[in-house]
Amino acid sequence: MEEMTIRVATVADQAAICRIHLQAFEADERDQVASLAMRLLTRESQPRTLNLVADSAGELWGHVAFSPVWSTAVDQMVLGYILAPLAVSPAGQGKGLGSQLVRAGLQQLTVQAIPSVLVYGDPRYYGRFGFAAQSAESFPPPFPLKFPEGWQALHLCPDSVDHSAQPFSCVDALNRPELW
Ligand SMILES: CC(C)(COP(=O)(O)OP(=O)(O)OC[C@H]1O[C@@H](n2cnc3c(N)ncnc32)[C@H](O)[C@@H]1OP(=O)(O)O)[C@@H](O)C(=O)NCCC(=O)NCCS
Repeated sequence: MEEMTIRVATVADQAAICRIHLQAFEADERDQVASLAMRLLTRESQPRTLNLVADSAGELWGHVAFSPVWSTAVDQMVLGYILAPLAVSPAGQGKGLGSQLVRAGLQQLTVQAIPSVLVYGDPRYYGRFGFAAQSAESFPPPFPLKFPEGWQALHLCPDSVDHSAQPFSCVDALNRPELW
């Protein structure tokens, strides 16, 4: 594998990103996740979804999206971003690419002074970045969760954490009960 760059994705990466998710996820969820990734890449929101890819000499190996979530209590206030989906092509897994994508996204959101990042995934993986279920307790998810233990948050600005309940809405692409 040649030198790897983590860069912002463009719509020209659409087919490659779709392929990564179709290859990485199990048969029972791959179509749903690939569709989600396509919607997050191509649909506008304000602020925009951050899409990052791992690119080695023009070949894409991984993708992650971070989309904004808004407070339903305070109109239009951005509470944070939600990390979903994340995938690395099977042949590229176990080489740190997933971690590079997550850390690059967290770094960009930190620079933008985003307070919190949410994720719904395996705590054994996301725990290494500092995501914790306890941190997500103040963010009631918008739909009932099939795996409540996977609901986690990471506070990027720990000094300004608001522990009161903060209900939120997400982009249309994630506004589907079957994804939760
Ligand atoms: C999860 C995924 C993105 C990790 O990408 P990666 O580039 O292999 O990750 P890294 O190289 O940064 O980290 C590899 C480590 O994560 C662990 N890991 C990978 N998937 C994991 C999971 N679902 N749960 C717990 N640990 C996991 C590996 O065992 C490895 O552990 P080690 O560091 O102790 O050896 C990749 O395995 C993937 O695309 N999986 C299928 C899709 C998926 O499950 N996406 C995330 C949904 S929560």
